[in-house]
Amino acid sequence: MAAVGLAATAPKLEPLSGGPPHPPENPPTQAKIRLGEELFFDSILSGGRRRNCGTCHKRELHFMDGLSRAWGLDESELTRKTPGLLNVGWQRSIFFDGRVKTLEEQVSKPLENHREMDLDPDEAVRRIRGDRYYVRLFSEAFPGEEITFRLVAKAVASFERTLVSYDSDLDRYLLGQDDALSQAAKRGMDLFTGKAQCIRCHNGPLLTDHDFHFTGVLERDGHGKAGDKYKTQSLRDVLRRYSYMHNGRMMTIRQVIEHYDRGGSAPEGVQAEIRPLGLSDEEKDDLVAFLRALNGRVHRVPDTFPEGPGQLADTAAPESVPASSDSGESGAAVDDPSYLNR
Ligand code: HEC
Ligand code: HEC
Repeated sequence: MAAVGLAATAPKLEPLSGGPPHPPENPPTQAKIRLGEELFFDSILSGGRRRNCGTCHKRELHFMDGLSRAWGLDESELTRKTPGLLNVGWQRSIFFDGRVKTLEEQVSKPLENHREMDLDPDEAVRRIRGDRYYVRLFSEAFPGEEITFRLVAKAVASFERTLVSYDSDLDRYLLGQDDALSQAAKRGMDLFTGKAQCIRCHNGPLLTDHDFHFTGVLERDGHGKAGDKYKTQSLRDVLRRYSYMHNGRMMTIRQVIEHYDRGGSAPEGVQAEIRPLGLSDEEKDDLVAFLRALNGRVHRVPDTFPEGPGQLADTAAPESVPASSDSGESGAAVDDPSYLNR
């Protein structure tokens, strides 16, 4: 392949900062994000009121659960691990197999799953409509709009887009601080982008090509078939994870590196998209040193969002505001701030 042609498209490592884009139909406001955060951690969204999104996506564990695979309502293991949600707003498809396209679309899935939260989304809406506290929060976030699950999803997705991870050693290095990476991490970076070929799929600011590949990892328990492709996982914060691969089959980063070094573990007759690498023990250590440099220090987007929809556009004014009102203020005046102490 001509070096010139390659250089134009060569995948590379890039720093990450700021916040993920918000869809035009769901612009962020602080009121919406606050509501989404409340809902995310509230068991009102589960059948037996015993679980919430945060049961599996625990804030203190970088929105993972600390387990190899997620734990079901029926006290048994699910087939996949709980992914962390940091930087999820930058994902271009959702779930390990990309079967969902947007964060908004994802929110109902764990409720509809009998082993995850087990609640009809319509029932969730009925519960919320009957809760004075939420009626108030919704009226602040979505003045004048009837509470529906679509609004629940918009709020939760807006909260998820505030969860980020960057300012890692690699970001600092890529932004010009040469001593941000140790010598071992620099050697690891050379392997990552060279001999070990990781950069082929793990590239760009998230260290993923946002594509799907078969790397020789199969679904557990006979679900799926050999050759099924999975989303290239972002490698940011990879050393903070509790298990690796969609099925949580690998417990240590060293096992992952051995897997790649072997050229995957596909069954006979099925060709994975990776080849044996012939890495020495020192090279494997260097790769791990590089991966450790992907742990982020900043975990929340800079908060520059407007407080409520009134500041976004005048069109979202609630019905209670006289049509003649020319004020740019949100009509969602808080006449009773007691909810703050709830
Ligand atoms: C029982 C544990 C559990 C609960 C409860 C749970 N999740 Fe998850 N979550 C998972 C698992 C497991 C996956 C991976 C599923 C897959 O890829 O098929 C996942 C995947 C996701 C993803 C996709 C991440 C990515 O990178 O593709 C998002 C977003 C998400 N969950 C948000 C939520 C929200 C919002 C809630 C609450 C409404 C929730 N989860 C409740 C276990 C859980
Ligand atoms: C052909 C594309 C491809 C190449 C090359 C590749 N990966 Fe991956 N990587 C993937 C895909 C796809 C997944 C998700 C697999 C799954 O979930 O079953 C993944 C998952 C991982 C994970 C697990 C992340 C997690 O949390 O589960 C690590 C770590 C990883 N890769 C590191 C590397 C390293 C290091 C290299 C180079 C030695 C490399 N990858 C080369 C595509 C690739």
